[in-house]
Amino acid sequence: MAVIKVHDKEFETYLSSESIEKRVEEIAAALNKEYSGKQPLFISILNGAFMFTADLFRHLTIDAELCFIKLASYKGMKSTGKITTSIGLEEDIFGKDIIILEDIVDTGKTLHGFLPKLFHQQPNSLKIVTLLHKPEATEYPHQLDYIGFAIPNKFVIGYGLDYDGLGRNLKEIYQLK
Ligand code: IMP
Repeated sequence: MAVIKVHDKEFETYLSSESIEKRVEEIAAALNKEYSGKQPLFISILNGAFMFTADLFRHLTIDAELCFIKLASYKGMKSTGKITTSIGLEEDIFGKDIIILEDIVDTGKTLHGFLPKLFHQQPNSLKIVTLLHKPEATEYPHQLDYIGFAIPNKFVIGYGLDYDGLGRNLKEIYQLK
């Protein structure tokens, strides 16, 4: 098991790049089936979801649109409790089939702050896809339609996820030691 140091903390391998790739392909296959004949708009939440989004998109065979928004509530290893939006939604989502792409749903606070704004614009449908979910950390429950991996309540980095800005480039997902 590989151990790496990022800033002041040690992390160990938790999910291999192969297992992530396999799961991303499975999710893409399920979305291709569910949205066959439709043209969903994916809303990817920056920064963390960029790698998941790029890999998932390579495996989509349906017509799909994509946009990015930037929401954040984290600083270091803790949620600040305050959601900041620095890139907002410019698309009109009225009547569209929306699929949210998240890197990780932890407390659920980010989605809690953002979803009402989306529903207000009356999409035709809205589903949530998250690569990772920490069920034990839930404070604001949401219906998560596709979950890549349910993981323990431990801080993780890699594959887009960071610890204070670092670790996003790692191919694997690492867990705090
Ligand atoms: P929530 O609002 O508590 O659900 O947290 C969602 C956001 O917090 C994610 O999109 C991540 O950016 C960040 N986050 C939560 N847990 C972790 C973690 O273990 N590692 C890195 N970022 C995390």
